[in-house]
Amino acid sequence: MHISIKNKTTLITGVSSGIGREIATLLAERGARVFGTVRDPKSAKPIPGVEIVRMEVTDDSSVNEAVRSIVQKAGPIQYLVNNAGYTATGALEETSVGEARQLFETNFFGVLRVTNAVLPGMRQTGNGRIVNISSVVGFLPAPYMGIYCASKHALEGYTETLDHEVREFGVRAMLIEPHYTKSKINENGKTAQTTLKEYDVQRERIKEAVQKDIEHGDAPQMVAEAVCRALTAKSLRLRTPVGKGVFLSRLRRFAPASLFDRGIRKESQLA
Ligand SMILES: NC(=O)c1ccc[n+]([C@@H]2O[C@H](COP(=O)([O-])OP(=O)(O)OC[C@H]3O[C@@H](n4cnc5c(N)ncnc54)[C@H](OP(=O)(O)O)[C@@H]3O)[C@@H](O)[C@H]2O)c1
Repeated sequence: MHISIKNKTTLITGVSSGIGREIATLLAERGARVFGTVRDPKSAKPIPGVEIVRMEVTDDSSVNEAVRSIVQKAGPIQYLVNNAGYTATGALEETSVGEARQLFETNFFGVLRVTNAVLPGMRQTGNGRIVNISSVVGFLPAPYMGIYCASKHALEGYTETLDHEVREFGVRAMLIEPHYTKSKINENGKTAQTTLKEYDVQRERIKEAVQKDIEHGDAPQMVAEAVCRALTAKSLRLRTPVGKGVFLSRLRRFAPASLFDRGIRKESQLA
């Protein structure tokens, strides 16, 4: 059973490329009133049926202004998809606190900021759904992408807790956990500025492997379909892994820890 998405005021962050763009395209095709955010509206390619709004998720006033303008045009936001995010490569020892903080400012505090701006409207109307785009590295380790992995683990704990706090107001929060997905995430990603030669070989090997995995990854439309189901399903699931994520999520839950540990090291080609 499904709830209709027709004309529902929907906010999606980060629609300039990749997964966010596909989510916006699909939800607009299915009849939602979609507002998609970009940081630079001048260079944004239009998406049929989607109203483009400027938003920098690391900036309080930018987020509040964007939400205010949407509510003024279309009434309270009923669906929120927190998608904006980026990745960073580098061993944890190579990563400065400043670089880690910067990434969390987008991937974690960005979600908190946008959600807190949208929630008062959802509570007042007594309904709303929030979908946060996590990753399989929200429940798996990710050597040489450790801070990105930590930001997605934080997002998982945040979302599960949020879902308990806002349920009594008719609002639900959920996670979508994509596996490698074709997008610009690697091109748009950052690399630790300080490198240690001890990590050179593994870092470069993993960088290359991740690039290939993304090139051969799932279609972003698969993630968009999962988001659409999460927003419209009558019975809710807190976590929805996508693509190979389904298998990995089961493995994480049921495989013995030692076997899982060996699998991660083998997959990452770690000695
Ligand atoms: N691709 C994968 O393999 C994969 C797997 C699992 C999860 N994910 C998650 O999926 C989400 C989308 O990533 P993607 O793969 O589609 O990558 P992408 O093509 O690089 O898209 C990222 C989007 O986030 C926006 N963004 C980044 N920083 C922002 C900020 N500070 N304020 C506002 N918007 C910002 C970008 O907008 P600008 O144009 O303004 O930079 C862009 O639209 C991310 O949360 C990512 O962690 C991706």
